[in-house]
Amino acid sequence: MRRLEFVERPHLRPRRLRRTAALRRLVAETRLSTADLIAPLFVAEGVSAPAPISSLPGQYQHSVDSLLAEVTRLVDLGVSAVTLFGVPQVKDARGSGASDAEGIMQVALRRLVAELGDAVVLIPDLCLDEYTDHGHCGVVDEQGSVDNDKTVERYQEIAIAQARAGADLVAPSGMMDGQVGAIRHALDGEGFFDVGILAYAAKYASAFYGPFREAVDVEIVGGGDRRTYQQDPANRRESLREVLLDVEQGADIVMVKPAMTNLDVIADVASAVDVPVAAYHVSGEYSMIKAAAERGWIDGPAAALEQLTSIKRAGADMILTYFAGELAEVLDA
Ligand code: PBG
Repeated sequence: MRRLEFVERPHLRPRRLRRTAALRRLVAETRLSTADLIAPLFVAEGVSAPAPISSLPGQYQHSVDSLLAEVTRLVDLGVSAVTLFGVPQVKDARGSGASDAEGIMQVALRRLVAELGDAVVLIPDLCLDEYTDHGHCGVVDEQGSVDNDKTVERYQEIAIAQARAGADLVAPSGMMDGQVGAIRHALDGEGFFDVGILAYAAKYASAFYGPFREAVDVEIVGGGDRRTYQQDPANRRESLREVLLDVEQGADIVMVKPAMTNLDVIADVASAVDVPVAAYHVSGEYSMIKAAAERGWIDGPAAALEQLTSIKRAGADMILTYFAGELAEVLDA
């Protein structure tokens, strides 16, 4: 056999389609666009100017005014949606601020709806950890465990408060059993049939949430963790179980989180469900790129684009990412 026999056969030259940028663009199987991106934003009670979050370079704890300015900027750039995290001034055992009509999330939602109407999809995170003094995502019982059903009752109250304030979708992220069905029931009971649920359906206990904890001033007392409610990264099939339970209970969109360590799960979920699939490129995934880029070790925007494109290629229809604002300036609509 002659040495070049294989490359000499005309149909065995895939490089042909990579020759020019125009050809590569033509045959690209995945196209990331601004419309795919959801920007996570932080709004803090009692701040008068945006406060930089040192663990998330380029991200801020916003005042209601600066939040409005940032959401307006993102909408003008073509970003479809924002997901919001509230940082209250006062925390207590039951996370009262989360469901208070005058709590920071509700105040911010009403303002955004008043100024922007339906121009952007508003997705408040629905959880308790930002609001509890112990830092857990739920109500803690005398033994120190997170009480599933008492927590779900609190989630129902929060969902109603967020719906009244103008949420388009609520996003329960606490990983309690039955939370999606209970929230759907509560919303319907108050006539909020049109408020949807973006369910954090497969959410792993992850070290990559580290920078987020500083962004929302959350520390679990006693050095605890979330392993009794968030999933073990060792498990893959369990994610399908979680996702299918959420779909059965009425989730309108299901989410996998974090994204890069769970591309297999995103692919599994995308082929198993008939609702849209979201993925969360989380704080640690963002900050690792930022930190390495700051040192000149990698090309930050290129690394971000490569990761987000891979997440979409794995099967995500939309991506929550702190890069949304930055990439919206370079991506197509
Ligand atoms: C819980 C919540 C967390 C994140 C989103 N929602 C923190 C956690 O589960 O500990 C993490 C987001 C990120 O790291 O970017 N309210």
